[in-house]
Amino acid sequence: MSKRTALITGASRGLGFALARELARRGWRLVINARDSEALEAAREELAKWTDVIAVPGDVTEAEHRLELSRAAQGAGGLDAVINNAGMLGPSPQPELLDYPLNVLEDVYLANAVAPLGVLQAVRDALKPGARVINVTSDAAREPYEGWGGYGSSKAALEQLSNVLAAERPDLRVYRVDPGDMRTRMHQEAFPGEDISDRPLPETSVGGFMELLEGSYESGRYAARESFTATDG
Ligand SMILES: NC(=O)c1ccc[n+]([C@@H]2O[C@H](COP(=O)([O-])OP(=O)(O)OC[C@H]3O[C@@H](n4cnc5c(N)ncnc54)[C@H](OP(=O)(O)O)[C@@H]3O)[C@@H](O)[C@H]2O)c1
Repeated sequence: MSKRTALITGASRGLGFALARELARRGWRLVINARDSEALEAAREELAKWTDVIAVPGDVTEAEHRLELSRAAQGAGGLDAVINNAGMLGPSPQPELLDYPLNVLEDVYLANAVAPLGVLQAVRDALKPGARVINVTSDAAREPYEGWGGYGSSKAALEQLSNVLAAERPDLRVYRVDPGDMRTRMHQEAFPGEDISDRPLPETSVGGFMELLEGSYESGRYAARESFTATDG
């Protein structure tokens, strides 16, 4: 059994929980977070069937909480992987850009771009050599889907942060990963009132993440459900 340790943000449900469960089954130790402490505790109890789990409830947009994550990472003996998965859609339904409330746009950028970098800054001293960094992005970072300008541009910022970090830190492996459409709470918020039962569950994206976490792929952009060659630098 591996004794590697991963920090996963937003691990109480959706993709983050699916990733945490698979890593737990593979013997990885986990540091997990989410804002809702009851939902996080339920996730921790489930994951503890397989592995050691430290649950740290809190909001990744808050610097003090990121310090708590850093202390937990140090207490766990360091990190082999960080998965910046927690994210925010913004308004539901999503407004077109010329109607987009700018104060909400600031929140979306904070949650989806600034906070993931803040997490990495906070845990930098806990990263083990060759640690994997995964920033969860989206095809909305690249495609001009109407209504997706706020969320999509925040994910585009996260993509370029990842791209530059990979250049600055060749000792790490920095992946920006598009998980594909998934049947989750966020996806339902993006399509309010619509039947999203045809979307795949997040578990269908997990295999690609495991390949990146346990393989030796170059830093770059990957789509979790596609065969793996870096899709660009
Ligand atoms: N679903 C899709 O189709 C899709 C497609 C492409 C990309 N993505 C990306 O995949 C990632 C996971 O999304 P999902 O669909 O699994 O969403 P989800 O089901 O809504 O889960 C989001 C998780 O993040 C936590 N979270 C949200 N904001 C947080 C914050 N500020 N601080 C700490 N934890 C926070 C949530 O718990 P609390 O609310 O309790 O904090 C929850 O555990 C996101 O980055 C999303 O942008 C999703």
